[in-house]
Amino acid sequence: MKITFGETGVPKAGAAIAGVLEEGRFTPSAEELDRLSDGALRRAVAASRFTGKKDEILAVLAPAHLPLGRVLLVGLGKPASIDALQFQNLGGNLTAHLNSAGEKEAAFLLDPIDGVTLSAEEAAANLAYGAALRSYRFDRYRTKEKPESKPTLERFAVHLDKPAGAKKRFQTLEKIAESIAFARDLVSEPANVIYPESLAAEAKKLEDLGVEVEILDEKKLAKLGMGALLGVAQGSARPPRLVILHYQGRGTKDEAPVAFIGKGVTFDSGGISIKPSGGMEDMKWDMAGSAVVIGLIRALAARKAKVNAVGIVGLVENMPSGTAQRPGDIVKSMSGQTIEVLNTDAEGRLVLADALWYCQDRFKPRLMIDLATLTGAIVVALGSENAGLFSNNDELAERIAAAGKSVGETVWRLPLADAYDRMLDSDAADMRNVTNDRGAGSITAAQFLQRFVNEVPWAHIDIAGVTWTKKDAPTVPKGATAFGVRLLDRLVADHYEG
Ligand code: BES
Ligand code: MN
Ligand code: ZN
Repeated sequence: MKITFGETGVPKAGAAIAGVLEEGRFTPSAEELDRLSDGALRRAVAASRFTGKKDEILAVLAPAHLPLGRVLLVGLGKPASIDALQFQNLGGNLTAHLNSAGEKEAAFLLDPIDGVTLSAEEAAANLAYGAALRSYRFDRYRTKEKPESKPTLERFAVHLDKPAGAKKRFQTLEKIAESIAFARDLVSEPANVIYPESLAAEAKKLEDLGVEVEILDEKKLAKLGMGALLGVAQGSARPPRLVILHYQGRGTKDEAPVAFIGKGVTFDSGGISIKPSGGMEDMKWDMAGSAVVIGLIRALAARKAKVNAVGIVGLVENMPSGTAQRPGDIVKSMSGQTIEVLNTDAEGRLVLADALWYCQDRFKPRLMIDLATLTGAIVVALGSENAGLFSNNDELAERIAAAGKSVGETVWRLPLADAYDRMLDSDAADMRNVTNDRGAGSITAAQFLQRFVNEVPWAHIDIAGVTWTKKDAPTVPKGATAFGVRLLDRLVADHYEG
């Protein structure tokens, strides 16, 4: 879909879209379309339940005297509550509506509105951003889809007074949208296509944007002493990789980076502690944390963020086999701490233990944030409305929560405490990888990670419940969400580019 910005004016074909405020107050563009169609729009409103509330859409087909296929009136609600997120959602909802209505081209006629703090340029850019995010599709393997069930929208234009300003703003947002699409593709690909080596090769593509990409193979990982990560990988025919992405957006290399660490289990069968077969296919997306880290670094580099950032992803496949790790095995992590692996399905924390340790040891980052589809328990606790947030630092936790709220990727903080940590003590080794208690599974997983974090401000985001969605949302079509790219890009923009 092509997105453009143009001068004000009514289009000559396709769909025209104009806003209506609460209580049916027409914007100037809606007024004009009504006048041109001899009052057809007011009559349509009167004959419907449309009142201009946020998210309402009223479609008027083939309006009198206009060459247009349709006019859409969209509810904007109360001027005082209009924000960027509302316009993103509007752009997304309109895209879905027009695609299913069979429309090929559309133009949104955007007016400045009294009492709205968001500028028309920002509104236009965010509208386009939402449209771009919603038009994502993973259809690479659908060779027999009927043309009539494919999306139709080819061109989406926003008409406003100062299109140049909107276009400039959109250029940044478009880069974030492209990075989100890249991450969604990685998450959606099946595990026969995306495995540690091929995922590392995808990360390598970031070199085109000036990102330095290092790929460590199993020999190097063994040399580094990453016994926890290697123990997970040893059952698979696919060798593991650790990928390090360096993006230097500051003038100086000396400034400590912000660091992002991702769980990249390209398939999680559970290993010898094998998962039930029903739903096991979902575990192709157990590498979403790594895809989000790669997508985030891509976004930062593409929009030339003024920050030094490091991304580290631990890539392994967790499989049962004759060479697989057994329940009861004891492994030694890079930190020197030993771990009794009582459940081979609690593998994400083993991978992250070594990745986190490596990160702080080598980079001395100013903060570390890890993302992982770590526990089924977080889905029980929070469903798919919030990701789980854990942190050893209140300021960082608050910043993450605020950034999430402003981009519509919300998180909910859960506690860390010594009493949970003690549940990980083992008689045979320094710790066990699971507790023998059914409670607090997401917290004890976070406590496990914290044993590999020293003094640095750190946060862990458990994205198991928000990474894959079964229903469409305004800017997120069903499937892979890439939850975390928008949130962390915003976090960086708000606090770490100064
Ligand atoms: N990748 C899973 C967690 C998961 C479950 C993600 C469902 C998305 C949806 C993780 O590796 C895992 O298997 N965790 C176990 C931990 C348990 C063995 C302590 C779990 O949640 O059951
Ligand atoms: Mn698992
Ligand atoms: Zn897993």
